Amino acid sequence: MKKSVFQITGIVLVALLNFNFCHAQKKTIDQRVDSVLKLMTLDEKIGQLNQYNDDWNATGPVTLDSTKKQQVLKGQVGSLLNCVGTRRTRAWQQIAMQSRLKIPLLFGQDIIHGYKTTFPIPLAEACSWDMDAIQLSARTAATEASAAGINWTFAPMVDIARDPRWGRVMEGAGEDPYLGSAIASARVKGFQGNKLGDINSLMACAKHFAAYGAAIGGRDYNAVDMSDRLLWEVYLPPFKAALDAGAATFMNSFNDLNGVPATGNKYLQRDILKGKWNFKGFVVSDWGSVGEMINHGNVANEYEAALSAITAGSDMDMESRCYKNNLAQLVKDKKVPVALIDDAVKRILLKKFELGLFDDPYKFCNTAREEAALNNPAHTQLAREMAAKSIVLLKNEKNILPLSKNTKTIAFIGPLVKAVKQNKGFWDVEVPGVDSNFIVSQWEGLQNKIAAVTTLLYAKGCEIEGDDKSGFAEAVEAAKKSDVVILSMGERRDMSGEAKSRSNINIPGVQEDLLKELLATGKPVVVLINAGRPLVFNYTADHAPAILYTWWLGSEAGNAIADVLFGDYNPSAKLPISFPYSVGQIPIYYSHFNTGRPATNDSNRNYNSSYNDLSVFPRYEFGYGLSYTSFQYSNLQLSKKKINSHEQIAVTCAITNTGNYAGEETVQLYIRDKVGSIVRPVKELKDFKKIKLAAGETKTVSFLINKEKLSFYNEQLQWVAEPGDFELMIGASSRDIRWKSAFELVK
Ligand code: BGC
Repeated sequence: MKKSVFQITGIVLVALLNFNFCHAQKKTIDQRVDSVLKLMTLDEKIGQLNQYNDDWNATGPVTLDSTKKQQVLKGQVGSLLNCVGTRRTRAWQQIAMQSRLKIPLLFGQDIIHGYKTTFPIPLAEACSWDMDAIQLSARTAATEASAAGINWTFAPMVDIARDPRWGRVMEGAGEDPYLGSAIASARVKGFQGNKLGDINSLMACAKHFAAYGAAIGGRDYNAVDMSDRLLWEVYLPPFKAALDAGAATFMNSFNDLNGVPATGNKYLQRDILKGKWNFKGFVVSDWGSVGEMINHGNVANEYEAALSAITAGSDMDMESRCYKNNLAQLVKDKKVPVALIDDAVKRILLKKFELGLFDDPYKFCNTAREEAALNNPAHTQLAREMAAKSIVLLKNEKNILPLSKNTKTIAFIGPLVKAVKQNKGFWDVEVPGVDSNFIVSQWEGLQNKIAAVTTLLYAKGCEIEGDDKSGFAEAVEAAKKSDVVILSMGERRDMSGEAKSRSNINIPGVQEDLLKELLATGKPVVVLINAGRPLVFNYTADHAPAILYTWWLGSEAGNAIADVLFGDYNPSAKLPISFPYSVGQIPIYYSHFNTGRPATNDSNRNYNSSYNDLSVFPRYEFGYGLSYTSFQYSNLQLSKKKINSHEQIAVTCAITNTGNYAGEETVQLYIRDKVGSIVRPVKELKDFKKIKLAAGETKTVSFLINKEKLSFYNEQLQWVAEPGDFELMIGASSRDIRWKSAFELVK
């Protein structure tokens, strides 16, 4: 039988490719990438830059595309997202293995806070200030997801967020660049593990590059207008930290930055990320964001959108199809040099090689391994511990908490008590074949905990939203019969998250009215607030004797809440974001400038920078969080009071647990540069240490201050430490400063 020229060429190519793969050992990965690239047609190259959604689970407008399979067969797709489970991923990979060059697919998924085992939402985890625990949470998620066919997570989201109206505050680490950078690094290390290529390593993706969290008015996808200095000083550091931790990929963002959409932003992607920072991985667009540049009004059509994005450095097009439909023509028209496409393809192939997919395209598709990883009791235990570490004790009058295990009757009231799935929060993963049975509701958690002597009463009281008070009477009856009342209230899990911005962030519905009636019974009431963002709850904050901010804690929510309520875990979490009194204060953050007419307290509002009708301070400040015990700070010492830029100061401070419970304290170090060529914030977090102390125990914490900690971006955007006076503050929060001192930096 005669073979066509095409068939013969194909056979030779595949032979060459196999030869290349077989000699892999002797070649560097770069050489292997080059040898694959040499074999690729322009169409196949463009294919690698193309990412499609599988047929469900969309987080954006889905394009129905019945030719997807054909395109994979032709090598016209580089990656799929929202395709989970070994069976499904294997089936797609098998199709890719029938393509001419057999280049394996990448499988990306939003593994934001766990896969099957759901951990607390990222903002909640950030409250732990515990980098080891946060890393372990990401590691556990990676262990499960990589066993379920996935090799790439679209996480961590490292966007600084200072506006709780923005629904995506839940997905990041809060308002501060120092804490945000530490967490970005921990999460990248957790997802990627020791190295890409390990069987349980997931590629991380630092997103959304950049400044997405500063959307005007807190409205998702909105424009961002900010100075370059603010960008460098506040919004970029967590990205740089993610990069330094080895993040394999970046995702750009939906917003424009100063008039240029991030997806077509050369300054962000080529100049900063791939230029100054020398990033070797690849950049994926956000969902459809290449095509959305037309709506921004920055390009006229998809042809121009593709040109703008590829030129600016976006390597992979998630779902817009602008690359697929236009890049070949752009090359033909000599608008896009093939070298530009080659660069993007090489970056993607490099990661496929590093993951080991060329050696074994099915390495993440082992069903027995998946089964074991998704049923690992150790993961459940880790999720419970992480959840307990994420709960913030906001108020505890007369030490109502922890509850006694001998309490006779507890009334557990509220619309979230028996909720199951709500506890997962936004950005959970629908795992095929797994129902919600394993999620521990708050009711179940308390039942698991209470002793035989305790009776647990229940009343729903009201819904989360709406004005129906018909359930109040039953709730009040239950309260009256009890020794203590626990009221679980908050927002719905899908009230925060992507596209979930809100102009009103009060506790919804009649929930605070219910609290009022419960308090009127005279019984002690402990309030649990479940939310994905800082809510406004002034009535509760003023009147409830005890408040735990429980966020969304994941599949072990109920058990972790019970652990904290009964003192089996002593709360240690501290807020990574300021809580406002009112939306009118937003944006509100601790590291603000002093202004020429600073407001120093709320009693003097005379021609100073305050509100006439509201406090200028937050309801709960950055770094705030109580414990069942108390800590005393003493004996602050500085090894020197004057340093030059090559020297450093050792700072020590003794912390004593003065209460009756063992506990953990996060000691925070803030610095203020008294005089700067650019105005400096009133304080900036520059270090922190979380320590564990037995009752009565004292430990000394130490910090080092060096030039790096005193540096900032000057007017020329140079990173400099200017000689002069500095203030040093050690505190239990950004407001609760326990010790102050001063030092000088000399030339
Ligand atoms: C989000 C990204 C996410 C992507 C894929 C987008 O809408 O902004 O953060 O990774 O969808 O689900």
